[in-house]
Amino acid sequence: MKTYRLAIVPGDGIGHEIIPAALKVLEAAAKKFDFNLDYTFFDWGAGRYLKEGAFMPEDGLDTLKAFDAVFFGAVGLTEVDDTLPAKLYTFKVRTAFQQYVNFRPVKLFKGLESPLRNKTSKEIDFVVIRENNEGEFVQSGAFFRPESPEGLATDTSIFTRKGIERVAHFAFKLAQKRRKKVTNVTKSNTLIHSLKYWDAVISEVGEQYPDVKLEKMYIDNASANFILHPEYFDVILTTNLFGDILSDLGGGIMGSLGLGGSGNINPEKNFPSMFEPIHGSAPDIAGKGIANPVGTIWSGAILLEHLGETAAAGQIVDAIETVFQQGVKTIDLGGTARTEEFAAGVIKALNA
Ligand code: NAI
Ligand code: MG
Repeated sequence: MKTYRLAIVPGDGIGHEIIPAALKVLEAAAKKFDFNLDYTFFDWGAGRYLKEGAFMPEDGLDTLKAFDAVFFGAVGLTEVDDTLPAKLYTFKVRTAFQQYVNFRPVKLFKGLESPLRNKTSKEIDFVVIRENNEGEFVQSGAFFRPESPEGLATDTSIFTRKGIERVAHFAFKLAQKRRKKVTNVTKSNTLIHSLKYWDAVISEVGEQYPDVKLEKMYIDNASANFILHPEYFDVILTTNLFGDILSDLGGGIMGSLGLGGSGNINPEKNFPSMFEPIHGSAPDIAGKGIANPVGTIWSGAILLEHLGETAAAGQIVDAIETVFQQGVKTIDLGGTARTEEFAAGVIKALNA
């Protein structure tokens, strides 16, 4: 029997509720599909920072390397400087492990109503591929005499040929398995150097995939089309910042931020990949047992898919849908189901 070693990092806030709930679903899938999950918990995050002055130990990345995948909740606490969680944990892992693809599917589950009037699950079904290692989030910048009247601050985006090519190849290959369309969401009309280059390299890569249609759309127009014509999209290929924003908008049109799952993927599997819901630690609802676990359960399914357990992954997503079709909804969706209760419903549907 195959055994997968998972590093579990619940993080902060609702991470401590949604990760244990989602793990129970993964356990049930493991049992049904005959594989083992061997996992180790790590108490890393802003909570650890408050106690020990660091989000993770100095050798934290080395520790993670030994695992097949990382299952992660979210990091961030209101008491901790909010520039630190990404810098000291999330971006650190994503970059060190060359998780250059951020895979964020958007689909309307049957049984749920989209806030978009008249849009059904046929019309909301696409994937946001967010470049995950460079772009606007390289944190290369500085403050110059910020307290003075002449104060100024900079953040420089960095786009490299290698960085654009590798994520573009992933997006085109994904589109080949779907509806064969890639929409490059850009803003090259105003970011005339970095995103002009982004567009050009994507077009070059696109020539190697003649069966996939490549289109270009500016981020402002794309935002409107998320609301007006979500059916237009199949695979969206976009930058780190734009993808961050658009995937929350994707969560919105699915019905809640709590629904979105994701994978930070190193396609070559040279390093472990990391799977986490698209949302944050939600301090406003933490500790109450009411967080929606679906984004985390879905992230667990994406994790299993990445490890090659495709059937288990597919059945978990189907089981989530079955629970919605039974009329069970979490509180953020206007229902009454608590975190544990929803996860238990998914397990029941999986075993039905
Ligand atoms: P957030 O995503 O944590 O919350 C935004 C809103 O959505 C809140 O009203 C929250 O209650 C709701 N929400 C989020 N997840 C939910 C769920 N599963 N079920 C029901 N409702 C849910 O974003 P916010 O408030 O901007 O950030 C809170 C903290 O999380 C900050 O410290 C931020 O830095 C951190 N964060 C961490 C991320 C990560 O670790 N990858 C990603 C995004 C934010
Ligand atoms: Mg985000």
